[in-house]
Amino acid sequence: MIINSFAAETRGSILSPFTYEAELTLPLDCKIEIETCGICHSDIHMIDNDWRSSVYPFVGGHEIVGKVVEIGKMVGHLKIGDRVGVGWQSGACLECRDCLRGDENLCDHNKATIVGRHGGFADNIIVDSRFAFKIPENIESQFASPLLCAGITVFAALKYAGMKSGGHIGIIGVGGLGHLAIQFASKLGNKVTVFTTSEDKADFAKNLGASEVYLNPKSKNKVKNKLDIILNTTHNDLDWKYYLNQLDSDGTLVFVGVPPTPLNVHVGLLLGKRKRIMASPIGGRSTIVEMLEIASEHDIKPIIEVFKKEEINTALTKVRENKVRYRAVVDFKK
Ligand SMILES: NC(=O)c1ccc[n+]([C@@H]2O[C@H](COP(=O)([O-])OP(=O)(O)OC[C@H]3O[C@@H](n4cnc5c(N)ncnc54)[C@H](OP(=O)(O)O)[C@@H]3O)[C@@H](O)[C@H]2O)c1
Ligand SMILES: [Zn+2]
Ligand SMILES: [Zn+2]
Repeated sequence: MIINSFAAETRGSILSPFTYEAELTLPLDCKIEIETCGICHSDIHMIDNDWRSSVYPFVGGHEIVGKVVEIGKMVGHLKIGDRVGVGWQSGACLECRDCLRGDENLCDHNKATIVGRHGGFADNIIVDSRFAFKIPENIESQFASPLLCAGITVFAALKYAGMKSGGHIGIIGVGGLGHLAIQFASKLGNKVTVFTTSEDKADFAKNLGASEVYLNPKSKNKVKNKLDIILNTTHNDLDWKYYLNQLDSDGTLVFVGVPPTPLNVHVGLLLGKRKRIMASPIGGRSTIVEMLEIASEHDIKPIIEVFKKEEINTALTKVRENKVRYRAVVDFKK
């Protein structure tokens, strides 16, 4: 069949219509008719080849939600008509130690939906059905899309950094990832402190569940109570010493956004209070299911701006300019 998508022809270019042929050939594959797809900042990094792994023409899109319209003959857990989501990952060996303990996202053979293959800025996609997850009925497709990358990334990072409830959590950046992190942390019973560079978001973060907000924090702005976890969702070089100083004993600074420059942090800043620095990629399959259940039960809902497919370049520009409040979602049915 012909798949109608939007592709960047060269590094950094705007997207233009691009068609390619694909058939469902493998017995565990499924074909999804796409309803909505969110725009993650990683799509921008990939359009720009920031990570040296982009292949052009490049079709981004990895916050995919749609209906299953065809299944391979060995697919047992999905049926035609199911509404499913696909995120950044669409393959793994499923046999290694990481995969066997539910950390498919750490697998050496993990495959990304938009690396070396075409993603979800399209009317249809064919993927390994084992990386397509049923969407809870009470979450509309446009609100489910951002959960598939932004949602799972922040939920898994907070979980593996030790988030429970009753803690105090800091979130740096209130973009697509950050605004969901505030909701997961606060709705699961934690106090949330936000660090932002955008004045309008400072007020808004409180509606999302933050109890304290620091606008453009400087080294003199010490947080009132020290934090157990600080999650960085930005892709910039910030004053990491400042943030490490805001952590409580045994606190963790966890990165999901990757700053361009290597960290320049003296171990002494960690040693005295047994602090940690860690980083976390997306989340494994069982964590995705857990995250979707929590979002469904706790009414964790992205705040979105919906764009028609013809408006995809306008949406990408708004993401680049940090003007989206708070996740752009493209509706491929409009
Ligand atoms: N680890 C993973 O598995 C994973 C998964 C998905 C995405 N990511 C990465 O996470 C990052 C965020 O993605 P996103 O989709 O949430 O992006 P986004 O929606 O564009 O949000 C990024 C936020 O960073 C802050 N920011 C932007 N420019 C800044 C600057 N110059 N100084 C300080 N803060 C700035 C802004 O927040 P304020 O306006 O509040 O300051 C902005 O909203 C990207 O780099 C993406 O590639 C990682
Ligand atoms: Zn993403
Ligand atoms: Zn594996």
